[in-house]
Amino acid sequence: MERTFLMIKPDGVRRGLIGSIVARFEAKGFKMIAGKLMIISDELVRKHYYEHEGRPYYQDLTTFMTSGPVFAMIWEGEDIIKLARFMMGSTDPEKAAPGTIRGDYATRMNRNVIHGSDSPENATREINLFFDKSELISNE
Ligand code: TYD
Ligand code: MG
Repeated sequence: MERTFLMIKPDGVRRGLIGSIVARFEAKGFKMIAGKLMIISDELVRKHYYEHEGRPYYQDLTTFMTSGPVFAMIWEGEDIIKLARFMMGSTDPEKAAPGTIRGDYATRMNRNVIHGSDSPENATREINLFFDKSELISNE
């Protein structure tokens, strides 16, 4: 079993997409083991997106990510890191296939509705960044 960190970004929360997005991962057979609505601090977003510091879109990205509540989640399932990325679709919604989350709900790269960890290392790092161990529900 693998774990990943998924986060519905402020555009997704604002547009009322939490339920639809969560339903897709539930229908796939994955299990949510932690979830919370939160407003992320500047410090947290900088840690989360540290790899992007200095890129032309970085300022917009950090401002956007702190502009309203996000829905942060930990999900569990077989091969979930790769499969969740597949369900999300390409980073650029113009290239995301219909049927994927970004393909169905987004049109712009900088408002692409959802984040998902891209590797086991980043999944662990991001889970620890956003959640305390006491917030995880497991062993069901
Ligand atoms: P990235 O990690 O490359 O994509 P993903 O979210 O699919 O893992 O980039 C992180 C976020 O930064 C991305 O979701 C949206 C934003 N971004 C832009 O706004 N413009 C860009 O050109 C890139 C590469 C990313
Ligand atoms: Mg990424």
